[in-house]
Amino acid sequence: MTLNDVYRKGEEMLLNAHIPDADVDAAYLMEHFFGCDRARLIIHGDENADDAFTEKFFSAIEERKTGKPLQYIAGIWNFMGYDFYVGKGVLIPRDDTEILAEEVCSYLYGKKDVKAIDLCSGSGAIAVTLGKICPDCTVEALEYSKDALEYLKKNIALNDAKNVTAVYGDVTVCCGEYDDGIFDLIVSNPPYIESDEIDTLQQELQFEPRMALDGGQDGLYFYRIITEKWHSKLKCGGMLAFEVGERQSVPVSEILEKHGFEKIYTKKDLHGYNRIVCGIKK
Ligand SMILES: C[S@@+](CC[C@H](N)C(=O)[O-])C[C@H]1O[C@@H](n2cnc3c(N)ncnc32)[C@H](O)[C@@H]1O
Repeated sequence: MTLNDVYRKGEEMLLNAHIPDADVDAAYLMEHFFGCDRARLIIHGDENADDAFTEKFFSAIEERKTGKPLQYIAGIWNFMGYDFYVGKGVLIPRDDTEILAEEVCSYLYGKKDVKAIDLCSGSGAIAVTLGKICPDCTVEALEYSKDALEYLKKNIALNDAKNVTAVYGDVTVCCGEYDDGIFDLIVSNPPYIESDEIDTLQQELQFEPRMALDGGQDGLYFYRIITEKWHSKLKCGGMLAFEVGERQSVPVSEILEKHGFEKIYTKKDLHGYNRIVCGIKK
């Protein structure tokens, strides 16, 4: 088979399985297994495809047909220019989360000897990006899922983020292990989907860990508990920054207000939803 034949057959198999964006997924897997992007496919598409890579490509297509996310099949995903290992047990870093990562990076950028903690760190997408972009900052990355923690550690090593430390802990209880007033920044993209909504979500999301998604009955459980239990760990003038779900910016802003934060603001994602809520400790 030529490279073109492989690509077209893969796309057709995904289309027949009603996988949305079949062309994009097939192209991604071509690049992943053959190192062959669209431009190369146009120029070299008539060349013979390597048998071993072809076998791997079609076995990935079979996995994708089941709805398994492309990111889990590839095992690696890019977030803000950095690669992250992903797989069963860890949330795939989302494009929307880049808004939060950009905000906290620009908040700490250029500051010396500052300390941050990323609560509910998952793959470490936020913590590692922050550590790389702000090398004078030390970042703790707290995570309670043992599976996710393994990815977090591997991603710190993969990106050689020496100023980032993975910490195992439950965000709802382990704040007692930290002194008051030590952090310049607390950032979190916690689980925020309403418990009852989870089973109704699209097929791909069902492959992701429930623990990464479940934000309790009203989706706000972690915002309440993090703000209540962790605000004393911030320095005065320090920032608390959250990613929020589409309808959560108002209640989350109210939670921050209730705990004495000022200069509370939101920023929108590309779809026009308020995607982050940030506030400054008085
Ligand atoms: C929405 S995911 C965010 C992951 C990552 N920060 C990101 O933005 O891609 C939430 C993460 O919170 C973790 N988590 C859930 N409950 C937790 C708890 N009680 N303490 C610490 N982490 C928790 C999950 O395992 C998951 O990795």
